[in-house]
Amino acid sequence: MKRVAVYPGSFDPITKGHEDLIHRSLEFVDQLIVAVAVNVAKQPLFSLEERVALIRQAVPDKRVEVQSFEGLLAEFAKKVGASVIIRGLRAVSDFEYEFQMALMNRNLAPKIETVFLVPAFDLTFVSSSLVREVARFGGDVSPLVDPGVQKALKRKFGK
Ligand code: PNS
Repeated sequence: MKRVAVYPGSFDPITKGHEDLIHRSLEFVDQLIVAVAVNVAKQPLFSLEERVALIRQAVPDKRVEVQSFEGLLAEFAKKVGASVIIRGLRAVSDFEYEFQMALMNRNLAPKIETVFLVPAFDLTFVSSSLVREVARFGGDVSPLVDPGVQKALKRKFGK
């Protein structure tokens, strides 16, 4: 049977850290659905359509599908037939929120397992929020994001 996993997040924008986790996931899943959340608490820099397009451009792999979702992740994962939810852990500080979220998702969808992956060590400091901040002030983010994302950030910030 085909193993389908969902990799959810805000992806505002996708970083090399996300890309690294996508490639690691593909070592043990047949299909990965990158699920871009509509309801992000903060006002995102990139629109939903932009975030989806940037992921598609950065990860051109037949086994990777990019979809947006609204509402509960557990419901979305059930709807697409996923048996796994992928989340990344970069530091201990990520753990508490991720632990709670994994248990809540298990409460909502008992058959779906959350699998935590650790990114490459040299990418553990990379986050979308830091990438946005560095790009906003004209810093070089080229080692941290796909060239398409770098261009999109330059356009956003008029650099
Ligand atoms: O990249 P992020 O911002 O850490 O992703 C968080 C996200 C989108 C995965 C999380 O907020 C989420 O799953 N939102 C959907 C609503 C939901 O299911 N909330 C309950 C989670 S226990």
